[in-house]
Amino acid sequence: MIGVFDSGYGGLTILKQIRQQLPEYDYLYLGDNARAPYGTRSFECIYHYTLESVRYMLSRGCTLIILACNTASAKALRTIQQNDLPIINDKLVNDKMVNVLGVIRPTVEVVPSLTSTKHVGVLATPGTVVSDSYRIELLKQDSGLIVTQQACPMWVPLIEAGEHTTEGARFFIRKYVRQIMASDPLIDTLLLGCTHYPLIQSLIDEELALVSYHPCRTIAQGSIVARSLKDYLRRHPEYESQLQKGGECHFLTTDSATRFGEAATLFLGEPVRAEHVEYGK
Ligand code: DGL
Repeated sequence: MIGVFDSGYGGLTILKQIRQQLPEYDYLYLGDNARAPYGTRSFECIYHYTLESVRYMLSRGCTLIILACNTASAKALRTIQQNDLPIINDKLVNDKMVNVLGVIRPTVEVVPSLTSTKHVGVLATPGTVVSDSYRIELLKQDSGLIVTQQACPMWVPLIEAGEHTTEGARFFIRKYVRQIMASDPLIDTLLLGCTHYPLIQSLIDEELALVSYHPCRTIAQGSIVARSLKDYLRRHPEYESQLQKGGECHFLTTDSATRFGEAATLFLGEPVRAEHVEYGK
């Protein structure tokens, strides 16, 4: 089964696109809503929460897990891949191999081809910005890029609280969009470097239209990550052959199942029943 993990609702924006492009597989979505947001927490804390969540998804039968969370991808993925996965794979007795993938790498492979001015903006959580992962990885792709990052600490809490379409939310959307465009007015490609942000993409676009002197577009990661996963499965039959194909999707949350179900139903446009789970105690 393919696992899709996020600190909360954000990973649904990735899951939606993955299921559109790869409808045949079975999926398990886990939102650690009870401990969201991750983006303002320390490296140790994000790594610890992410590893606990990965272990839980493995125990539920996932063999390939996508960290559909930039913060977890920036802060925990490398350590999990280098230190924890070898031990986990060593202990597996039934010949199954497990792997964990992130969302930053596939995104930076695409972004350089989208900009004409070579000025790219990244909107992300404080954790992702402090890690500097996007700047480092984008410059590896194209050393001529000018990358400006803006931390948006209020956006995930507002989305998790269901307050993202209120006047209060608009204030913070305006604030961070204006800050990044004032830092570099030549930005023509603004990456939504947090999987929660597509939920407010239209509001970000409205604000951008007011402050940008030239066409500037926002880029969400969903379809980019989905295309990259499709390609990964084609190149890795050893993982692909282990996946169940029933087109089923099961939803787990560490917070209220009712609330998660309602929010996910609205976002995915299909009835979602979620299961409340507890782990890592
Ligand atoms: N969706 C997560 C990301 O992409 C949000 C992290 C958070 O919980 O702050 O970074």
